[in-house]
Amino acid sequence: MAAIPQRERVFAFRDFVVKTWDLHDAHWTGRTVLDVAGGKGDLSWLLANADALDSVVVDPRCTDHTKITRTAKWHFETRHEDERSLTEDRGPQGPLRHLALQPPWRPPRHLRVYMDQELLEHRRKPFVEWKFFWEEASKRAEQTERCGHHQSLELENSQGAPRAVRIEEAAEALEAIHSCSLILGFHPDQATEACIDLALELQRPFAVCPCCVFPKDFPERKLYGRTVKTYPDFIEYLRQKHPSMRFKDLCFEEGGYSRSIVLYMLQEDFDGEEVKKMRRDTTGGWFEAVLRHMVPKLTETYEGITVEKAEEYQQLETAPERLQDDKTSDCGEQLKTLFETNVDQCWEMCQRKAGTLKTFNAGCRAGNYIPKT
Ligand SMILES: C[S@@+](CC[C@H](N)C(=O)[O-])C[C@H]1O[C@@H](n2cnc3c(N)ncnc32)[C@H](O)[C@@H]1O
Repeated sequence: MAAIPQRERVFAFRDFVVKTWDLHDAHWTGRTVLDVAGGKGDLSWLLANADALDSVVVDPRCTDHTKITRTAKWHFETRHEDERSLTEDRGPQGPLRHLALQPPWRPPRHLRVYMDQELLEHRRKPFVEWKFFWEEASKRAEQTERCGHHQSLELENSQGAPRAVRIEEAAEALEAIHSCSLILGFHPDQATEACIDLALELQRPFAVCPCCVFPKDFPERKLYGRTVKTYPDFIEYLRQKHPSMRFKDLCFEEGGYSRSIVLYMLQEDFDGEEVKKMRRDTTGGWFEAVLRHMVPKLTETYEGITVEKAEEYQQLETAPERLQDDKTSDCGEQLKTLFETNVDQCWEMCQRKAGTLKTFNAGCRAGNYIPKT
């Protein structure tokens, strides 16, 4: 296979992603994809305009689509000209030409924030804590003057440049993270590990092409007892996070910055884990698994399940409805499928369970039964 020149690397990564997930299949249209450490946003712009995805750049930097939109416009305006004579006059025409994109261009969205362990931790917390974190983290990202060495101050400060649409609200930010169908990271620098950790936690497919290792920023990373300092060690360290992680070399041109290995996982690679998790989570099969995902404070005291407060009964009664509507729920695809095939029964069981528990708990309060502890 011929080596891929530097300016075309992001296109090669997109090609790999499009082919691996068959992104032009109708069921992908409009789905949310996180482009972690997306920089000025070329990959996301391509995913939005060539692949009809809701792509979200996650990066503290400002995005800037000036160059890519200008080039796409030029290709559009010269679309009827012969490519060979264009090549003679202006040099080789890149892969953007072959995408034959037509205006109007659609901007991607932007989460202007650092993807790091702090974000991962706060996304699991109650919403008020997430909201506080999000507001502080947004300010921190804005204070980052120049993130990385790949963007000039002039470009970053330029007014009127076409940019991704910034997500300001904490709820929308959390929704974008939790509802994503795919997580991508192309040369994501310090975000590399957090980006893979997020995908593993949410059990979402991902493709990450690591580059720099930053051993000084992450001295706690160890591989076989030694600190992770080199690119091959970094790849192996990341690969060890999951036994089903896959590996593909995109064969970029040799050179100091040629980092062409993609680590990735498909949805099916998580299935084994999902089944194990469901077994662990359930004594009563899919129904109890639904409850455990949708009623967070369940404790095991009576018939496997008990709730104590009025709002928990309500959570129990409305669990099927919320599972149906709640795109942010991080329960796995397999559980959702099980739930969908049993939806009517699930409604009935949830109502019945709430009724039984109300009676049982009232009986406990009246001293009629002693609940198991
Ligand atoms: C090498 S550039 C790659 C940019 C882009 N993916 C591309 O290929 O053009 C690395 C990017 O990582 C971003 N970055 C570094 N640490 C980050 C973090 N913790 N969270 C999100 N982005 C981060 C930088 O702001 C920079 O835009």
